Amino acid sequence: MSSFSTKILDWYHHAQRKLPWRAKDPIKPNPYHVWLSEIMLQQTTVATVIAYFLNFTEKWPDVNSLANASIDEVLHAWQGLGYYSRAHNLHKTAQIIATDYNGIFPNTEEFLLQLPGIGPYTSAAIRAIAFNQKSLVIDGNVERILARVFRLPFPPKDDMKQLRIVLETLSPNDKFGEFAQSMMDLGATICTPKNPKCDICPVNNFCESYKNLTQHLYPIEKLKAKRPQKFGFVFWVENDKGDIWIRKRENRLLKGLMEIPSTSWEIENWKKEEAIANSPWPEHSWTNVIGQVKHVFTHFELYLNIIKIKKSGLDLEDGFWCAQKDLKDHAFPTLMHKVINHQLGTLKNK
Ligand code: ADE
Repeated sequence: MSSFSTKILDWYHHAQRKLPWRAKDPIKPNPYHVWLSEIMLQQTTVATVIAYFLNFTEKWPDVNSLANASIDEVLHAWQGLGYYSRAHNLHKTAQIIATDYNGIFPNTEEFLLQLPGIGPYTSAAIRAIAFNQKSLVIDGNVERILARVFRLPFPPKDDMKQLRIVLETLSPNDKFGEFAQSMMDLGATICTPKNPKCDICPVNNFCESYKNLTQHLYPIEKLKAKRPQKFGFVFWVENDKGDIWIRKRENRLLKGLMEIPSTSWEIENWKKEEAIANSPWPEHSWTNVIGQVKHVFTHFELYLNIIKIKKSGLDLEDGFWCAQKDLKDHAFPTLMHKVINHQLGTLKNK
């Protein structure tokens, strides 16, 4: 009988997804493409990442050109992808590779783990996919496959050591990059979270849960805590020409991106008067709340109330007037896009 890895690799050779960061045999994978895609894919779906990946590689075809870009350019190209610390780390890592490694990607776990934004998962993925090294690449797709194949009696994240042990038993002796990607593709297209297509699965012979049709019971889920809520106010300031006052965020979260000035985000909702007292223009008379936007972060839900003044000639240091047509030239996080869209309609990127 063929092994699990032979079956899944055969399947991968004809059924793999065509993704722009994947090298086409016989061309060798480009470590810059593999790294960039893995960073983008850390918190984002393949469907969303494709356009960003193509844009980045067109603008910055190699790690040296990315290192030479400004952080503002990188943030601008990243806007909408979320988790902006990834963009800061991407830029830092590009600069380290350009200067300390002569533009050549390191290929050992020791050196990869020293680079900003590269943790154990990403290091394992880069080693397998870019350099065809034996490494255990365990993302959410792989966790789900392992949980079903072995009927793991615990939520996968609870015992990563055990996951590594069982994955090792399925792994091939070569083609490590293809094996890692075949597991990702199987998880994305066949061993899906809901309604897995077990009848056409190339490795259903090896699947303990399929044998007794309990695949819907795996992976065992962790009980989720409800996300806490946070609240803030946004101060929409427009002058007679319709220009908007914007500034760069200094707070830790979303630092370096632009914002419509806003309060800190608190667990208790702000009273309007308190919020205004914390605004850059406490002496002005603001409208009532004219809208609310909601944004869901990993660890909390944020509700922002929008209030407004019309004012010319504000003379503050931390910000500037921006014409409405130029808003698209700045890097706003999605949350601020929601505020701008609420006020002005759709904000399109260049
Ligand atoms: N998810 C994370 N890394 C991936 C990759 N290289 N291909 C497809 N999906 C992924």
